[in-house]
Amino acid sequence: MIKLRVAGTGRFLPERVLANDDLSLSLDTSDEWIRSRTGIVERRLLAPETPPAFMGIAAAEKALRQAGLDPEKLDLLVVATNVPEELIPGSSPFIAEGLGLPHEPPFFDIKAGCAGFVFGMAVAGAMMKSGLARNALLVGIEALSRFVDWEDRKTCVLFGDGAGAVALVMADDDRGILGISLHGDPTKRGLLRIPAGGVRLPASFETVQAKKHFLEMKGRGVYQSAVTMMERATLEATERAGISLADIDWLLPHQANLRIIEALVKRLGFPRERVLVNIDRVANTSTASIPILLDEAVRAGKIVDGDILALTAFGAGACYGTVILRW
Ligand code: ACO
Repeated sequence: MIKLRVAGTGRFLPERVLANDDLSLSLDTSDEWIRSRTGIVERRLLAPETPPAFMGIAAAEKALRQAGLDPEKLDLLVVATNVPEELIPGSSPFIAEGLGLPHEPPFFDIKAGCAGFVFGMAVAGAMMKSGLARNALLVGIEALSRFVDWEDRKTCVLFGDGAGAVALVMADDDRGILGISLHGDPTKRGLLRIPAGGVRLPASFETVQAKKHFLEMKGRGVYQSAVTMMERATLEATERAGISLADIDWLLPHQANLRIIEALVKRLGFPRERVLVNIDRVANTSTASIPILLDEAVRAGKIVDGDILALTAFGAGACYGTVILRW
C-alpha cells in the first residue's frame, strides 16, 4: 500500500465548444454517426494562439488551491502528455515555469499514451513511498486537436482538448493506493501513432506533404485491445489490492469511447451506475481524461472520504493499467 491523499483536484477545459453538427458542416459525417459509435456529442478546442501549457497551469493551480498547498511546498511535478509543448524539453518545464517554483523541485514528462495519468499516479506514489517526495503534483494535459487531420473523419471526431491535475500529499491513515497493475504490449504499438517528427522519421517537406505528422489510428484494433487490456489490469489491480470488484465504489475509465467503456463494464459485470462518464461533453482528452473526470466527480460531491476508486486506462504503446485508490 502507498499511503497518500489526493488533497486537491483541478481541471481546465477550453471555452470553444465544437459540436458534432459543427463538424458535419465540413466533413462527411453526422451527429447520429458520431453519437451512436462513440457517445460523443461535443468537444472543447483550445484556441490556436493559446499555448497548451496554459491549460495545465490552470488545472494545477486549482488543485493546489483546493489542497491548500503552497507551490513552494511541492517537491515533485509529473506531467503526463502525448504531445509535448516542445519535443525537447517536453511540457513539464513550461508548467513549472507557469506555477513559479523558485525552489526548483524536479519535474519530468511521462509518455504512456492515454494511460499516462495512471502511470503517473504509480510513479508519483512510488516516489512518495520511497521518501523522494512528500507533496507531488500530477498533471494530465492534451491538445490533440493540433495533431489530428481535420479532414480525416475517422480520427478527428474523437478528440478534445483539456487538462486535469491532482495534488498528492502523504497520508497517515488508510487512504492511498491499494493496488496497481501496469502493462505494455509493444506488438500493438502500431495501433495509434504519429509516424513523423521523431528521430525515426524526422520532419521534412515530404513528411508534411504526406500528412505523416497527424495521428493515425486503427480503430477496430484499438477497440478490441482497449476492452481486454483494461479488463485485465482492473482484475489484476483489484486482486493485488486484496479487494473484490464489488468493493469498488467508482470506476473511472479512460474516456476513449462510450462503446469501449460499456463493453468493459459488461465484461467485468460492474454496475453501470457506478461508472463515471463525461465523454459526451468533452470527447477523448487522452491523458487528461481521468483527472478531468475525477475533478468533476469530486466537485459534484459524488466521491466522498473512504470511497474506493479504480482508475483504468489504455493508450498508445500499447500501455495500459489500473490504479485502485482509497479516497
Ligand atoms: N462519420 C461517418 N462515417 C465514418 C466516420 C465518421 N466520423 N468515421 C468512419 N466512418 C466510416 C468509415 O469511413 C467506414 O466507411 P466505409 O465502410 O465506406 O469505408 C465506416 O464508417 C466504418 O468504418 P470503421 O472504421 O470500420 O467503423 P467502426 O464501426 O469500426 O467505428 C470507431 C469506428 C468508432 C473509431 C471504432 O472503430 C472505435 O470505436 N474504435 C475505437 C477507437 C477509439 O476509441 N479511439 C480513441 C482513441 S485511442 C485511445 O484513447 C486509447
